[in-house]
Amino acid sequence: MNNSLTPSRRALKGKNIIIGICGGIAAYKTPQLVRLLKKKGADVRVALTESGSRFVSELSLATVSQAQVYRSIFPPAENPGTDFTTHITLGEWADALVIAPATANTLARLAAGFCDDMLATCFITLRPGKPVLIFPAMDGQMYLSPSVQRNLATLKALGAIIIEPESGELASGQCGTGRMPEPEAIAAHIESALLSMDCPSVLRGRSIVITAGPTREKIDDVRFISNYSSGKMGFAIAGAAAERGANVTLIAGPVNLDTPHGVERINVESAAQMREAAGNFFRSCDIFIGAAAVADYRPAAVIPGKLKKNDPEIQFTLVKNPDILSDFGLQKQTGQLAVGFALEQDNGPANARKKLEEKNLDLVALNFSDRKTSGFEVDTNMLTLIERGGITTELPLLSKEEAARKLLDTIENICRQT
Ligand code: C5P
Repeated sequence: MNNSLTPSRRALKGKNIIIGICGGIAAYKTPQLVRLLKKKGADVRVALTESGSRFVSELSLATVSQAQVYRSIFPPAENPGTDFTTHITLGEWADALVIAPATANTLARLAAGFCDDMLATCFITLRPGKPVLIFPAMDGQMYLSPSVQRNLATLKALGAIIIEPESGELASGQCGTGRMPEPEAIAAHIESALLSMDCPSVLRGRSIVITAGPTREKIDDVRFISNYSSGKMGFAIAGAAAERGANVTLIAGPVNLDTPHGVERINVESAAQMREAAGNFFRSCDIFIGAAAVADYRPAAVIPGKLKKNDPEIQFTLVKNPDILSDFGLQKQTGQLAVGFALEQDNGPANARKKLEEKNLDLVALNFSDRKTSGFEVDTNMLTLIERGGITTELPLLSKEEAARKLLDTIENICRQT
């Protein structure tokens, strides 16, 4: 597959990005970040704070960005005749401002509206609608301090995108939350932000809740009933919806997948837990997409401890699990959309339509699982999209990412008509 053609790979091409670098140890990663963004086709300028210059050299940053590094808003002493409007034009030039690492001190300066260096001034002079991404990185205790959290909340309210630091070993030698993500992850966040700004999608700003993956239904404390669902389809939909600017909540069963950028994830294990988590959004979400392979039944009672293998034969009573999608479909209000999947073996279209009616869905994606090309575990899927009005679209075998985009295109069409 030619990845260079996927939208996220194109998002940075020709874009003007300012990287604001503050004085934290994570600054050592920034020349690599600048190089990566340049490689992806962006034009990069660096705004370095005074303390940032203690951690990373201006010469390295000028070399990798192939441009002057900005620090003060005043022209350099050795060249006093230089244009004194750069502090305004640089902010106006940018398609995005990325502050990585962002220290507690700079967060306070930005929250208070200071303009005492080039980085802070760019924050003020950036054109409206252009994304500001802030990557706080500091000691875990500092990060959690009320003043840092208050300043982050202020910046978020001003429209900045705050990316939570990662957990792991910190410069202090302790483990905690405070690490700056790696350059590849930062670049992916920038790409997502640029895409959702550029994208005129009707999904932008809508709240979408997606269930994904299998559920596990406990037999005893060490065994469970489950299925082969990998969660890949639901995660692909979540990522694609976030790229279109939707506010996405992903309720995930136990899967081994990274959370797509810009997506809020809630981990659950059983169908009952998934139902409870989903129910919290039934009234508020605009679109509910049931992509999870929810176990239809669970053991009536969980055996405490570990079941001994003394008996030649054992019997379980299984009871029906709640049907999450159906619960939503049957109580949704005007303006809310319910989308489901139907994994069928025989009479696919007829069964899928029946499901659409019974669960009061607006759209159902019919698929099958051979575990080789389509359905569970694999990276591709063949969907037939059946709309409430009867329109049926047979998609070819596609990557799950591409199938997710086609599904969202159809959801967008439905949104435009309602
Ligand atoms: O009825 P069936 O299980 O085939 O329906 C599949 C659709 O319903 C999927 O979208 C699935 O996520 C959803 N579902 C659910 N809760 C269940 C069973 C299925 O949300 N208990």
